[in-house]
Amino acid sequence: QLDNFAEPYRPQFHFSPEFGWMNDPNGMVYYEGEYHLFYQYYPDSTVWGPMHWGHAISTDLVHWEHQPIALYPDSLGYIFSGSAVVDWNNTSGFGSEENPPLIAIFTYHDMEIEKAGELEDETQGIAYSLDKGRSWIKYEGNPVVENPGAADFRDPNVIWHEETQKWIMVLSVQDRVHLYSSENLKEWQFESEFGHDAGSHGGVWECPDLFPLQVEGTDQTKWVLLLNINPGGPNGGSANQYFTGDFDGHTFVADTKETRWVDYGRDNYAGVTWSDVPKEDGRRIFIGWMSNWNYAQVVPTEKWRSAMTIPRKLSLKDENGMASLTSEPVSELHALRMAGSEKNIASQTVSDIHTIDLGELDLSQSELLFEFQAGDSESFGISLGNDQDEMLKIGYSAEEKQLFVDRTNAGKSDFSSNFASISTAPYEAGDQIKFHIYIDVASVEVFVDNGNRVLTEIYFSSTPMNSLKLFANGGAVELTSLTAHELKRIW
Ligand code: FRU
Repeated sequence: QLDNFAEPYRPQFHFSPEFGWMNDPNGMVYYEGEYHLFYQYYPDSTVWGPMHWGHAISTDLVHWEHQPIALYPDSLGYIFSGSAVVDWNNTSGFGSEENPPLIAIFTYHDMEIEKAGELEDETQGIAYSLDKGRSWIKYEGNPVVENPGAADFRDPNVIWHEETQKWIMVLSVQDRVHLYSSENLKEWQFESEFGHDAGSHGGVWECPDLFPLQVEGTDQTKWVLLLNINPGGPNGGSANQYFTGDFDGHTFVADTKETRWVDYGRDNYAGVTWSDVPKEDGRRIFIGWMSNWNYAQVVPTEKWRSAMTIPRKLSLKDENGMASLTSEPVSELHALRMAGSEKNIASQTVSDIHTIDLGELDLSQSELLFEFQAGDSESFGISLGNDQDEMLKIGYSAEEKQLFVDRTNAGKSDFSSNFASISTAPYEAGDQIKFHIYIDVASVEVFVDNGNRVLTEIYFSSTPMNSLKLFANGGAVELTSLTAHELKRIW
């Protein structure tokens, strides 16, 4: 248990660095029973600076152990975002088949070039580990992908492509992605470009991820391309869009050019998935950075800045003939439920405001599962409140056909004019609407109808949010079930 994890706004079951600045999750790879999480890290300040890869390890996706810094900046530049893989066949020659190397693939950002006013400041490098990710050796032949004369040329994400027996790298290049292939992770060939006529282009495309996923209930496999964009998110600033489509080892062809979002909240950016999760498990597990470049560097935490989202399982579901992406909390998180804390609230008709008695349960660190049967109410939901009359409202507007998280009056917001507002997600609910919510001191993650829609938002209430109310405006709604669990702290 770390003593300093009791500061105001410190998440109690999310991953956050002990001190210093953190942004994107990087290099997530599973190997020998361990989930590795690397991250963009600047240990010397609480704002962005010379980027390192911080490191943490978990065996269960719930408890994390902080590790020494994995990668330091060097003469080729800062270490920007990227991915990691297990090189099972030792294609790189850095290890052996008995001891396959872990390979990290990352962007070098050269500040000298940037300072000289030139745009071609990014190249791609690799490093390997032969001791289960504990120490890393940078490849002497770096960079492995030179800059072709492009600005914003970064965030390589690599996957082994079974059919062509090659490594595939997806790389962000301004507001497009480039695909490369390789036999040994050291030499890369350009394959194709994707994106000029698809998706949202309100900002730079960053941190892509490409992987196959089976469409649930079918034997069809689709490729998913995650593409983070900043700015240009649905509620402002940074956000994560996705495409589904086909990929033959050379080109990606999208099912639709429409923009679709992984998460409509303002605080889930740069999210990508774990590599090498065993086939028997079969999950694609996602984690994101729980902040937004609009205000990430000025949020009111003192020793550290930012946390990651909870890990989520991504699935593809058929929605009117189109594969669509859902995210749900990984089931390992059930281990956080505090024994004996479960509260079940009686079903009831809500037509104004109902206060819910949760007894001793600490709402500021909890999981809520509830279901409404839509009535004639225009909008309904829950609100979290404290003794300072601050509140965070989460609900559904049947009138507007949208979900919302309202943090306009949820606490401190004077640090940024961009912060206090209402995030919405278009949604056509059926007769029932189901919410699954994780609250952790200064964040809320809202999963609706088994992850069909997700909203992740942070907030900074002056005192803990410890009271729960139900509300319905302009009519009535039926609460059919409500279960609350207090959650354990992991630090
Ligand atoms: C996304 C990002 C990446 C980059 C990293 C730098 O948040 O801008 O594109 O690699 O952060 O820290």
